[in-house]
Amino acid sequence: MPVELKKVSKKDALKKFMDSCKSLPNPESQLIAILHKAQEINGYLNKELMDDIALEMNIPTAHIWGVATFYHYFKLVPQGKHSISVCLGTACYVKGAEEVLNTIRSELKVNFGQTTEDGLFTLQEARCLGACGLAPVIMIDDRIYGELTPKKVIEILNTYRK
Ligand code: FES
Repeated sequence: MPVELKKVSKKDALKKFMDSCKSLPNPESQLIAILHKAQEINGYLNKELMDDIALEMNIPTAHIWGVATFYHYFKLVPQGKHSISVCLGTACYVKGAEEVLNTIRSELKVNFGQTTEDGLFTLQEARCLGACGLAPVIMIDDRIYGELTPKKVIEILNTYRK
């Protein structure tokens, strides 16, 4: 007879993690780990999650927001299916990163930190993706695209739209 797995809600999963943090000495020091877990579970951090963490861990919400907004790693808005990082490091900048960026902005109608209306892309800024020899460079998810022109960028975006 198959074993039926109990469905665990996002809130339950986060509460379980926070409970384990509470058993550690100085539980408030686990805030970053808790925020990581919350983002892993939910995809991004929103007000409801922050309030839950504040209540559960007895930490002021303002402090939690301060930490979440300080680190670029934490996302405060829903993320798109694909993450686009546009490199604005020196090598990319002198080789035309601004033109690439403007093409992406006008094609997707988003700015840094925003997600397209269809939820497909989130646009982010990067400072050197470690592929300066291919400048200008963007990264979509884990894949690097180099030697870009506005035309090439549009072609690449279209492959993700199919
Ligand atoms: S500056 Fe863009 S990859 Fe290094």
